[in-house]
Amino acid sequence: MNSSETYLGKEDAPPGLKCLANGKVRDIYELDENRLLFVTTDRVSAFDVVMNEGIPNKGRVLTAISTWWFAATQDLVDNHLLSTSVDDVPGLDDAWRKKLEGRIMIVQRCVPMAVEWVVRGYVVGSGWKEYQKQGTISGIPQPAGLQQAQALPKAILTPSTKDDEHDKPITPEEAAEIVGQEVFDICETASLKLFQRGTDRLAELNILLADTKFEFGIRNGKVLLIDEVLTPDSSRFWPKDDYRVGISPPSYDKQILRDYLETLDWNKSYPAPDLDPQVLAKVGERYLEVQELITGMKPQQTK
Ligand SMILES: Nc1ncnc2c1ncn2[C@@H]1O[C@H](COP(=O)(O)OP(=O)(O)O)[C@@H](O)[C@H]1O
Ligand SMILES: [Mg+2]
Repeated sequence: MNSSETYLGKEDAPPGLKCLANGKVRDIYELDENRLLFVTTDRVSAFDVVMNEGIPNKGRVLTAISTWWFAATQDLVDNHLLSTSVDDVPGLDDAWRKKLEGRIMIVQRCVPMAVEWVVRGYVVGSGWKEYQKQGTISGIPQPAGLQQAQALPKAILTPSTKDDEHDKPITPEEAAEIVGQEVFDICETASLKLFQRGTDRLAELNILLADTKFEFGIRNGKVLLIDEVLTPDSSRFWPKDDYRVGISPPSYDKQILRDYLETLDWNKSYPAPDLDPQVLAKVGERYLEVQELITGMKPQQTK
């Protein structure tokens, strides 16, 4: 396999490294007691089910976008990123270097928190459902009369638990109980600042940041921004031109795949259905477009 092919990892692990976890999208290996090798594969999940096929280039796109944001936000909060160079991974032969190039991060090993830090700037998705029922989002009262996809008076933190199956929304108070008030305050402040930075940068590109999810970890008693940042997988990006209050605007993310899946006779649980290669290619193109837009750099698809 060369570097331009889809990489699904897991059963195809780099030699000599202990695998600590296989996430839906990422595989995590131990480098030493302080550092992890974080490999972003081309796996894609929709409705919390990982598909059997990958999206071409997806892992490299996500890595490039997160790397860009880590640099663009390090004045706001310290993050886990140490290096993106395959030269810093010991024991790789040329074939493995090619395969992993562009899709790895060497990161500081953290204790992840059991909370995901979701920030919302608009009332949509599960937030819209709750608002319609009881006028709140994550238990936080909102003004009456909001329409679907309308901007909130100000961005709000709507945390959820990090769960293997389905993430469950919790109130900020519940999040504070889980991580402790002091850590909560740090994560809340950082999440809102990061959201503002993302909103401002994306506005220049005619993209609205509807909502996004951050993760934080603890290293030597310090809170670090971990995982991925402001990618199409962790965020809802709306092209400004398609935005209308009252409808849920089409998103830049996996919407093409979700729409396609809705046309299939599939009950949204395992096993995943077989996917049309043309749809996969189209989603891959979309990811490349988003990368070029955000980072301002043409993606390197092949080496
Ligand atoms: N620096 C870090 N230290 C420890 N764990 C991390 C770090 N950064 C991210 N993680 C964890 O690695 C996993 C990333 O893999 P991913 O495929 O996104 O998993 P998930 O299926 O949970 O979304 C997440 O569970 C995340 O919490
Ligand atoms: Mg994840």
